[in-house]
Amino acid sequence: MIQRVGIVGAGTMGCGIAQLCASQGFSVKLHDLFPEALAAARGKIKLGLDSAVIKGRLTTQQADRAALSIDYASELSGLTGADLIIEAAVEDLETKRKIFGELDKRCPEAILATNTSSLSVAAIAQATATPHRVLGLHFFNPPVSMRLVETVRTPQTNPEVFTAVWDFVLMGLRKTPVDVKDIPGFIVNRVMRPYYLEAQRVADGGAGIAPVDTAAREIGQVPLGPFELMDLIGLDVNLSITRIIYQACGRPERFKPQALQEKLVELGHIGRKSGKGFYLYEGSQAAGENPQALAFLSAGPLKPAAAWEQIISSVIAEAQMAFKEGVAGKSDIDTAIKLAMNFPKGPFEWLNQKEKTRF
Ligand SMILES: NC(=O)c1ccc[n+]([C@@H]2O[C@H](COP(=O)([O-])OP(=O)(O)OC[C@H]3O[C@@H](n4cnc5c(N)ncnc54)[C@H](O)[C@@H]3O)[C@@H](O)[C@H]2O)c1
Repeated sequence: MIQRVGIVGAGTMGCGIAQLCASQGFSVKLHDLFPEALAAARGKIKLGLDSAVIKGRLTTQQADRAALSIDYASELSGLTGADLIIEAAVEDLETKRKIFGELDKRCPEAILATNTSSLSVAAIAQATATPHRVLGLHFFNPPVSMRLVETVRTPQTNPEVFTAVWDFVLMGLRKTPVDVKDIPGFIVNRVMRPYYLEAQRVADGGAGIAPVDTAAREIGQVPLGPFELMDLIGLDVNLSITRIIYQACGRPERFKPQALQEKLVELGHIGRKSGKGFYLYEGSQAAGENPQALAFLSAGPLKPAAAWEQIISSVIAEAQMAFKEGVAGKSDIDTAIKLAMNFPKGPFEWLNQKEKTRF
């Protein structure tokens, strides 16, 4: 039974996961290599708990109790005694392997999980002599409010370990776990890749940028079109995930990074955070398409409605491929895409709708 949770890395995700676990009554120990990161974590978590009180999600007493249930450890050895350790340090294989090698020696009883977004869980587990107790727990940002947790098993993960962590996510944290195989991008980052890449292909086919986003919102009923979403995520962050998945999958044409995004990143037009991406921004408001982005596009005959059809079809095709490869079940793929993207339907539900309307 998982009661004590250790967390490695007190950045954006580590603080969010610590706040989440503490709010659900778990005893938490949070470690970071850098004392200044640990000091900042205290403040961040306090702000997060205060905000939960203001939003009515926690009472003041619950927030106070959660704050008191988190200990801050400047040494990794401070996590000894935890039942589950969730690693949320920087996205670097060697760093994570080093941490897991240390955890293997210092915490022989604990289940070891990594929050990696794009690295192989098996490659991280290989740094231990006990890969049967290692799995992936991919939380989404911010962990407190995002319901989805991709729960990733490697061929060596012990089924009992997987079940214990599944129950912890479902009943302990009250989140929605989905059962995923250890493949590049897991479900969400892989199945959603064509959303971003196909959008750039259709834009270059003449559909443009804003018209494609409008078609996505009006026809697909999604909250954000692909270009709006890339601007929000950051074109640089999104491109780096594409590059990792492209390489890890053996450089297939469908995952090839697009020149449009590469050129914009080179120019520093990386989205909302830089004031320019596919759109220009005045404060938090989009103020029209970025002329520089439009200048990189070719003219073509493709209309926005056909462009949306092409984008969503490529997402469906990727979901079908992932299902055939045994990455996850159809309903887990649908759940993951709906919860992570706030989409009204998952790819298989879209496919069913398309098939019904064909007759
Ligand atoms: N930010 C996101 O949206 C997001 C979403 C899902 C998953 N992730 C994954 O979560 C992990 C953390 O991401 P983040 O955004 O919180 O990063 P971050 O840069 O905000 O925080 C990383 C923290 O790890 C600490 N750290 C670095 N090396 C360490 C070591 N050897 N031991 C202990 N602590 C160490 C750093 O001091 C920093 O505080 C990454 O693997 C990332 O891919 C991030």
